Amino acid sequence: MSLKDSIKSVKNDFLTDFATVSDSSGADLLKQKYLSRNGLVTNLFKQLGQVSKEDKPLFGQLLNQLKIDLNDKLNSLDSTSDTVSDADKIDIFMPGKIYPSGSIHILEQTMLDIKKIFSEIGFNVAYGPEIDDDYHNFSALNVPEHHPARDMQDTFFVDKDIVLRTHTSNVQIHLMEQEEPPLRFIVPGRVYRNEAISYKSYCLFHQVEGLFVDKNVSFSQLKGCLEYFAKKMFGANRKMRWRPSYFPFTEPSAEVDIWDEQRNQWMEILGCGMVDPEVFKSVGYDTNVWRGYAFGMGVERIAMLKHDIDDIRLFYNGDVRFLRQF
Ligand code: PHE
Repeated sequence: MSLKDSIKSVKNDFLTDFATVSDSSGADLLKQKYLSRNGLVTNLFKQLGQVSKEDKPLFGQLLNQLKIDLNDKLNSLDSTSDTVSDADKIDIFMPGKIYPSGSIHILEQTMLDIKKIFSEIGFNVAYGPEIDDDYHNFSALNVPEHHPARDMQDTFFVDKDIVLRTHTSNVQIHLMEQEEPPLRFIVPGRVYRNEAISYKSYCLFHQVEGLFVDKNVSFSQLKGCLEYFAKKMFGANRKMRWRPSYFPFTEPSAEVDIWDEQRNQWMEILGCGMVDPEVFKSVGYDTNVWRGYAFGMGVERIAMLKHDIDDIRLFYNGDVRFLRQF
């Protein structure tokens, strides 16, 4: 067989062998067989001595190229299969890392619950300013300057006429200034009071205001609405009671208590009543045509009653051991 044919046949043999090899130990065997001191390619180099002088450069080139090709092939096998060290290999059966996930704060969850209940019975959701003027927080709600009712809500003043709202009722006025009746809204939001802090009172808390204005609105509708709410929120068997009360912006007025099972006593959750005609006058609604009811509920207290939370301050100190429970 001529050297040219030998080169061809060694190359073909190599390709056939190579096709069966998949890892570095197989590649080592092929290196041994073809490229070692007694390997088949090395032997071909030895035959170069028998080739005529003119043909030598050509065959030398062919053989060098063959050696390079074989080496390349074997090295490519090395790098595809075996360059990942055992330490870097991925163990797909190893349990993954568990990253802590956040959750919705229990107050926000309670607000969402409240919004859902009222949305389902036709209330729209609106928002209003937390910093407001005296007019919207007090005067337009029939609470004139020096009125003793202002003592009920010790107020944080930002300026002479500007307050941190003491209730979400300020948004009743904003809504009625902007919209023509009839209207039906709830207004969730933050309110501020300079109050003595206790297990059930904090300087900052949340309310959801409700306002319904239409032609034939009655107190019994208000009762029906809030009883429906309480049943949805606390379950049908939770004890609930109505007490007559007083607010300058509603007449008649009432408060609703829910039985506090932890303390064995009643806890007030909301104030409500029929919108006082004086309030309609401040926004220019015709008091001969329009009637309304309004309510304002404390979100923290509702959450406390629903989830057996015994201190309002827990909502605000950011202790994740508390927050994680919900
Ligand atoms: N704004 C009252 C409060 O903060 C609650 C209330 C709202 C009462 C609407 C009557 C009507 O206590």
